[in-house]
Amino acid sequence: MSVIEFKHVYKSFGKKSVLEDVSFNIKKKDITVVMGPSGSGKSTIIKHIVGLIKPTSGDILVNGISVPKCNEKQLLDLRKKVGFAFQFGALFDSMNIYENVSFPLVEHTKLSQKQIKRKVNESLELVGLKPDDVLHLYPHELSGGMQKRAAIARTTILHPEIILYDEPTSGLDPIASDLISRLIVKLRNELGITSVVISHDIKESFKIADQMIMLYNKHIKADNKPEFFKTTNDPIIRQFIDGISELKV
Ligand SMILES: Nc1ncnc2c1ncn2[C@@H]1O[C@H](COP(=O)(O)OP(=O)(O)OP(=O)(O)O)[C@@H](O)[C@H]1O
Ligand SMILES: [Mg+2]
Repeated sequence: MSVIEFKHVYKSFGKKSVLEDVSFNIKKKDITVVMGPSGSGKSTIIKHIVGLIKPTSGDILVNGISVPKCNEKQLLDLRKKVGFAFQFGALFDSMNIYENVSFPLVEHTKLSQKQIKRKVNESLELVGLKPDDVLHLYPHELSGGMQKRAAIARTTILHPEIILYDEPTSGLDPIASDLISRLIVKLRNELGITSVVISHDIKESFKIADQMIMLYNKHIKADNKPEFFKTTNDPIIRQFIDGISELKV
């Protein structure tokens, strides 16, 4: 069953066309990795899923509901179901980790302080952070990997059905990247979360992906199982996967 469907999506910013005739389906509980050169439209794709931007034409369905046709109230409901871990500045710098992670609960629920505290602790433990060690710290006092995990804790706290991760391992060393990859798989296995992961990290992508989508030159170059990307002789895909030279967008 598809939880996310892109149907012939075109997107231009002013005169600049970024996506042309982009169609794909994402199945429940799958981990789908979206790859492609810088500027190829990966972040643009996931911003469409939560209705942060509208397509120039075409449709995006989440659980069968057309996102571009959602009104404000429906968009709020959608954003409770779809967590978004942003590419940049995922945490609020001026808030400590407790305030950051509890933020969605304060915004979207009427839980008591005690209930909120319990849920924050659960979320931090889920991502492998010790609440007592980090709750009072500010984002700049955490390592990059810990910040990414805290951001994921904040994203999971409303128990979303879908999580969109925009480059969750960028800037991390191999060990911290591996921890994030394991976390994405754990959230899928334990909570049944459907995941869309934008990544430049081919090694981590192969560890976690059920499906991989490669964007190139405004179009979907390939949408297939990881095995396909490992074995294809297509020169553009090989260049990208093997990382042997620069690609023109
Ligand atoms: N709000 C916007 N207004 C104008 N142009 C935009 C906007 N958002 C994205 N673009 C343009 O759309 C193109 C795709 O951007 P996008 O952020 O989706 O790329 P990306 O694949 O995520 O790249 P990266 O790997 O560098 O994060 C870029 O050329 C970018 O300049
Ligand atoms: Mg991006």
